[in-house]
Amino acid sequence: MRDLFGKEIEQWIAVERKIHQLFSHFGYAEIRTPVLENIEVFTHTVGDETDIVEKQMYTVPTGDEKLVLRPEGTASFIRAVVEHELHQSGRAQRFYYYLPMFRHERPQKGRSRQFHQFGAELICDPSPEADAEMIAMIDHLYREFEIQEFEIRVNSVGCAICRPKYRQTLKEFLKPHLGSLCEECQKRFERSALRILDCKRESCRKVVQTAPLILSHLCNECATHHRGLKERLKEIGVGFVEDPRIVRGLDYYCRTAFEFVSSLLGAQSALAAGGRYDGMAEKFGAKPFPGTGFAMSMERLMVALEAKNKIPGNQRAPLCFFAALGEAAFKQLFPLSLHLKRKGVWIEMSYDKEKSLKAQLKQADRSGAEFTLILGENELKTSQALLKDMGSGAQETLELANLEGELLRRSQIA
Ligand code: HAM
Repeated sequence: MRDLFGKEIEQWIAVERKIHQLFSHFGYAEIRTPVLENIEVFTHTVGDETDIVEKQMYTVPTGDEKLVLRPEGTASFIRAVVEHELHQSGRAQRFYYYLPMFRHERPQKGRSRQFHQFGAELICDPSPEADAEMIAMIDHLYREFEIQEFEIRVNSVGCAICRPKYRQTLKEFLKPHLGSLCEECQKRFERSALRILDCKRESCRKVVQTAPLILSHLCNECATHHRGLKERLKEIGVGFVEDPRIVRGLDYYCRTAFEFVSSLLGAQSALAAGGRYDGMAEKFGAKPFPGTGFAMSMERLMVALEAKNKIPGNQRAPLCFFAALGEAAFKQLFPLSLHLKRKGVWIEMSYDKEKSLKAQLKQADRSGAEFTLILGENELKTSQALLKDMGSGAQETLELANLEGELLRRSQIA
């Protein structure tokens, strides 16, 4: 978990602004859910057997309840949709969130225990076009940030009808090879056999190389949906590869599952991931409605931007530093500084009335201000102040009565 400040937070703000704007262009409305949720929100949806639920949740014991720090956004989102009956109209609706998530993982580059996810969710639309919109939106987002070094991997993980049959077929295939699988996969065999396909260990990869793949075991509806998604992506010119080994570490997916992977990231190669979760509402006691979405983290986007030297600059600096010398000058400049701030003009000044001119000029320089205004006893006598352009070093004299107007004018030019 990291502190963000200084130059880094300015860069984050510049990137965040662009992403908020992009979601707004695509017609997505923001939603913010609480950091703490009841543990069942995740155990019933993400799945008891997943790494997230088994090992990564931060639990907060509070009386009889067991609350957890939200490890992901989709289950919280559907909890909120059901609670506020946002799905009742049956119309397609678009939401996005930008929220901190918490997973007790081993931190490394691009992976932290508190990370910040941007995610989008489109509910009440079962069509492959809704899934295509998600993928197109992420593709567009990365390209807007001038990142092209990624691959889009798309799969269908089937539905409640075809997946159990496929799981059985896979288990029959794996059974004679159980002894060659790693300890973890031997445990997975009974309860989450599909995840064996995703194991990174060489011994397991060897076994699953010839395993039957889900794409040839989809039911007709799932196969048609998957074909529809691929056709739409081709029609809109979004390149992808079909990867039948994508399983995802969350149990709630049905049909579409996808990942954006990038060589810019190193070990944590997933830039973004998502898919369809049509059955999830049922886990919250509601009649099921379709949903599809994705999430990506700021941490990984920033790693990619850094690798490409494309982090947007957002160097904020004051327009003017007010250097007051003596009580009388301070009395003139302090109210003017606040007056200008209220009008949206950033003014800096030191409240230490004993500070020498030299020290104030040093502070002005450090602040990055475009101008420094100097007001001392001599200037006061003539009702004038000295304005120094910090870039060119040029100086000019301004009438005190015109200060506000002159600075406002310069703020509009700046
Ligand atoms: P996820 O694959 O667990 O999916 O996470 C999505 C993205 O969040 C990852 O691709 C990665 O970019 C980022 N991420 C995950 N863990 C970390 C971490 N520890 N540090 C930094 N970044 C991380 C979900 O969370 C689903 N809710 C996505 C979704 C939305 N599916 C449908 N709608």
